[in-house]
This record gives sequence, structure tokens and C-alpha cells, in this order.
Amino acid sequence: MTMHMQMNRRIDNEADMLAFGVSLARLFRAGDTVALTGDLGAGKTTLARGIIRELCGNIEVPSPTYTLIQTYDGPEFEIWHCDLYRLERPEEVHELGLIDVIDEALCLIEWPDRAGSLLPETALTLNIAFEDEGRLVKLTGDERWELRLENV
Ligand SMILES: Nc1ncnc2c1ncn2[C@@H]1O[C@H](COP(=O)(O)OP(=O)(O)OP(=O)(O)O)[C@@H](O)[C@H]1O
Ligand SMILES: [Mg+2]
Repeated sequence: MTMHMQMNRRIDNEADMLAFGVSLARLFRAGDTVALTGDLGAGKTTLARGIIRELCGNIEVPSPTYTLIQTYDGPEFEIWHCDLYRLERPEEVHELGLIDVIDEALCLIEWPDRAGSLLPETALTLNIAFEDEGRLVKLTGDERWELRLENV
């Protein structure tokens, strides 16, 4: 698939990572998939936490490391926060019910590579790399995302 949009953001600390999630949250609509990539401890859960809190209020947002999925009721749509690190086979995303909701919920997915090619190609990818004490977040997506991210 052709990637039309790439945008980089340097994020210095955890508080700024939460704030970046807050600023992204308003862009998301029902049926969006957001792939959160980057090494262990990069900040994927932190970024998802900022997004979820902006949509759902200042609630606790635990890492889905062990549960694989945490769901939240947003004002307009459900939010599925997933960590697929422990998935053994891509097909397990069907057993988790994730594919059933992918067109209706906002799905924030850590370790999306574990799902093979079963996630939508229209996903926005937020890749987080370590950079000195902070992080570099690279946003990539198709032209739809390019338009939606114009004012971020
Ligand atoms: N921009 C940032 N700069 C510095 N530290 C950060 C930044 N964002 C998050 N962190 C810190 O990185 C640590 C790991 O964060 P987090 O749990 O979100 O990572 P993760 O990518 O979800 O890890 P995992 O792969 O284990 O799920 C936390 O201690 C968090 O405070
Ligand atoms: Mg995590």
C-alpha cells in the first residue's frame, strides 16, 4: 500500500506523550484502527492512555499486557485497547472478537505485527523510537490520514 503521509514528532517525556495522545484523540472516528509500534517500553501504552482519557474522562487505563484487550465506552463509539504481544497465532484476533468490531470501534493496537495481515491496511501507524532520554513518534498513513492530521 502506498503511504502518503509521514510526520515526525519529538516527545521529551511521559507527560508530553500523554498530551500528544490528547491532541490526537479528536481526530479519531468509529472504525479507525491505530497501530502502535515500537520496542518494549517505547511508550505505546502511554500514548494510548492519553487518547483514551481524552475520550472517556480521567479514568485508569491499565496496560492490556495480560488481558490482551481492555474496552472502554467512549461518548460516540467503543474503544478497544489491545496488546497482541502474547498472541501465538494471527488467527487468534478472531477469537478475541477484535475483527468483529474493527469497523465499528476505535481500535488502538500495540504489537499489531502479531496479527499478520489481518488488520486493516487503512490503519494509522504511530511508531515510537527511543531518542536520547525522550522519544520520536513517526506517524504514517494513507491520504485520508494526511487530511485529518493537517492541523495536529
Ligand atoms: N516521550 C517519552 N519520553 C520518555 N519516557 C517516556 C515517554 N513516553 C513514555 N515514556 C516512559 O516509557 C515507559 C514505558 O512506557 P509504556 O508502558 O507506555 O511502553 P510500551 O511501549 O507500551 O511498552 P510494552 O511494549 O511493554 O507494552 C514508561 O515508564 C513511560 O513513562
Ligand atoms: Mg504497552
